Amino acid sequence: MTTLIVASSHHGSTREIAERVAEVLRTSQSVETVVEDPAGAGAWLDTADAVIVAAPVYTGSLDAEAKHFLDSRRAELSLRPLVILASGGAPEPLPKVAAQLETYGARDVAYFRGALVEERLSWIERMKLKVSKNEHYGDFRDWDAIERWAKSLTHHGVR
Ligand SMILES: Cc1cc2nc3c(=O)[nH]c(=O)nc-3n(C[C@H](O)[C@H](O)[C@H](O)COP(=O)(O)O)c2cc1C
Repeated sequence: MTTLIVASSHHGSTREIAERVAEVLRTSQSVETVVEDPAGAGAWLDTADAVIVAAPVYTGSLDAEAKHFLDSRRAELSLRPLVILASGGAPEPLPKVAAQLETYGARDVAYFRGALVEERLSWIERMKLKVSKNEHYGDFRDWDAIERWAKSLTHHGVR
């Protein structure tokens, strides 16, 4: 039994969340996990008993690579339990993002605040945030909530 965790991440913070979820599943739920980025995840799909997709929110939408994985693998994903974790700088997901997340038939959808570390961003990214007045820098990840959620996943078919 193996759960594939597909982690898309521009600056590492969503990947770190995915790795923490994997660690919790391994150590407290005895679930084997593989963490892969969307480009490499397809190779694991046939052997995965369940799939967790972890993706950041960028400019008002789910990250494009994760969205492409979810859209292009719809048929394979419909055959196994799917769970989605989105992470963004905002305290709550925008209604548009929440609606987008509901379209994949996932057994559970979670949203956690991520991290926005100024030094990791390109000049263009910093400018985009400045223009949109979204310069909320900091690490807002609630590790206790993330771990609690990871422990609940076996109730949604993660195995
Ligand atoms: C250019 C840019 C645009 C962003 N747009 C959004 C957004 O629309 N909504 C949101 O909640 N967070 C937004 N964020 C914050 C990221 O989702 C957050 O920092 C996330 O934790 C980054 O994950 P990563 O480190 O895995 O890439 C944006 C960040 C950047 C740099």
